[in-house]
Amino acid sequence: MLQIRNIFIDPATFLSPMAGLTDSVFRRLIKRLGGCGLVMTEFTSAEGLTRNSFKSQRMLFYHEEERPVTAQLFGADPHRLAEATRMVEDLGFDAIDLNLGCPAKKVVKGCGGSALLRETQLLEEILKAIRAAASIPFTVKIRAGWSETEIVALQVGKMAEDNGVEAITLHPRTRVQGFSGRADWSIIAELKAHVKIPVIGNGDIVSPEDAFRMRAETGCDGIMIGRGALSNPWIFRQIFEMDNGLPLTQPSVSDKYQLIKDYFQLLFEEEIPGPIGKMKQFASWFTHAIPFGASLRKSIYESTEESEVMAKIDQFFENSLPLADCELKT
Ligand SMILES: Cc1cc2nc3c(=O)[nH]c(=O)nc-3n(C[C@H](O)[C@H](O)[C@H](O)COP(=O)(O)O)c2cc1C
Repeated sequence: MLQIRNIFIDPATFLSPMAGLTDSVFRRLIKRLGGCGLVMTEFTSAEGLTRNSFKSQRMLFYHEEERPVTAQLFGADPHRLAEATRMVEDLGFDAIDLNLGCPAKKVVKGCGGSALLRETQLLEEILKAIRAAASIPFTVKIRAGWSETEIVALQVGKMAEDNGVEAITLHPRTRVQGFSGRADWSIIAELKAHVKIPVIGNGDIVSPEDAFRMRAETGCDGIMIGRGALSNPWIFRQIFEMDNGLPLTQPSVSDKYQLIKDYFQLLFEEEIPGPIGKMKQFASWFTHAIPFGASLRKSIYESTEESEVMAKIDQFFENSLPLADCELKT
């Protein structure tokens, strides 16, 4: 369990914010599977939000069952970020997080995301502005630095702590690295030794064993999982089970089928515009270890209607379930 002021994060596991992926529907699905202590919105533009962009407002949609839930903002203008912070607070979020890691050209061009790791004077102004505007807990999520020669995690961590930030998540890759290479967990250990506020380790956890190893190697107070939860949404539950000496959930092909159906159901209830893209994306994640999954993926990517995607998935699972379950067991 991890406590950030009045928020009890139990267990101390976080779902990474992932733009275009971790919307309210996905977050609820993860929460329902169990073992995830905190979820966060996709990063939301402070500029867009304060200019009443519908897209930005939509990103801050959440359900009560997601709590505790953090809103993540990005931007480079202290005034806009302060105003957006007040809006987030009015929406009832439990905490606010500032994105200091996004490597996307569009974001860094405007000096947001990881660009702020090189603009420490502006960053300090922003931290002060958000801190003054927020009465809810304030956290940041950073990368290690801009490049290998500009690793600033410790300096930024200390600055964040000195300016009232209450927890820090570190994805120890540089902006230049993007998502290539390996996350250097030793920087998480260094940050943990350097600051008093909770440190959440992130990067390359794809199994419960990885989560154990990160905690043991870095001493971090919590762990955050992104891509690993896309292909295995049961990972949080499995970590909880491992922590408690329980047998690990081994999702069957029928469990995956059920999860796809649950996801589609939630998508339709939410009336998300153009859900077909999300349906295809989601179905493809869970059909990787399933026999003949590749042909299903090809066929659903050619579909143009939601009902067609659904029918292909139903047909695939209904025809191949007995075979698939049997093959998985052998
Ligand atoms: C498609 C995608 C979108 C992402 N969007 C965000 C985002 O909106 N905010 C953020 O702080 N990090 C974002 N990230 C970074 C992740 O939160 C996480 O730090 C990174 O993927 C490393 O963790 P992992 O190895 O567990 O995936 C994104 C990553 C991916 C792959």
